[in-house]
Amino acid sequence: MNEQERKRVYEQAKDWILDAGAHIRNVIDEPLYIDTKSNPNDLVTQMDRDTERFFADKINQHYPEHHLFSEEGFGEELDSLQGTVWIVDPIDGTMNFVHQKKHFAISIGIYFDGVGEIGLIYNVMEDELYHAIRGKGAYKNDKKLPQLEPELSLEKSILILNGFWACENNRINERKVQALIKKVRGTRSYGSAALEFAYVAEGIADAYLTMKLAPWDYAAGVILVEEVGGITTQANGKTLDLLSNSTILSCNQTIQEQLVNDYIELKE
Ligand code: IPD
Ligand code: CA
Ligand code: CA
Ligand code: CA
Repeated sequence: MNEQERKRVYEQAKDWILDAGAHIRNVIDEPLYIDTKSNPNDLVTQMDRDTERFFADKINQHYPEHHLFSEEGFGEELDSLQGTVWIVDPIDGTMNFVHQKKHFAISIGIYFDGVGEIGLIYNVMEDELYHAIRGKGAYKNDKKLPQLEPELSLEKSILILNGFWACENNRINERKVQALIKKVRGTRSYGSAALEFAYVAEGIADAYLTMKLAPWDYAAGVILVEEVGGITTQANGKTLDLLSNSTILSCNQTIQEQLVNDYIELKE
């Protein structure tokens, strides 16, 4: 993708995500059609599907040679990231969308031959667009986000973590998670992976640790975090495979090694 094309796709994607979000805000108080997927707490609404279809139609009309990889079935089943791939989560934080009518986001990561080029996370109800194009820094609306704190100790860090992983489970050594919770300044859990990445990029949280995300949950977030000098890997520090579900550790680089070496032990 040449520079001009990259810029054009970036501007276009920003317009579409803002339009999709404005539509959701306009109809937020109308009745919702809610279904469940893999279990009774795995919710999906007509708005998730309509929003994904909106992006599928736009991409198809304007960029028929691009690919879409997405949650709700309007994309393709991909086994390679060759060419230009839009990785889209139409509503990230559907449970928040249904129960709270806020704290959800639209997430779009655009990859070219496997390299993350454009990351967009739109906090719809707050009208806050986090956006980045590789190599040019990350922004929240018009404000450039600063590089992450160069000297940071775990004692002064805020960790985003779902409390479930501090209970007995078959994925991570919960004793070490409990020790980590005691070590950090505080923990938070926001219920939208995309927003959790955006908060790490914004520097209002310092690490995000979770045990299972799909590519559309993290595709945009890794690009934003990288643009402010942060790092995203699997929870054991290994490189991510962008086509697979994965454990995730996204954080300020100064605490990454300490987390991986001293506190994260996966039950593999
Ligand atoms: C979910 C949210 C949630 C995370 C789940 C995701 P969805 O995405 O990001 O915070 O813990 O693993 O599946 O289903 O609301 O798009
Ligand atoms: Ca979902
Ligand atoms: Ca999601
Ligand atoms: Ca979703």
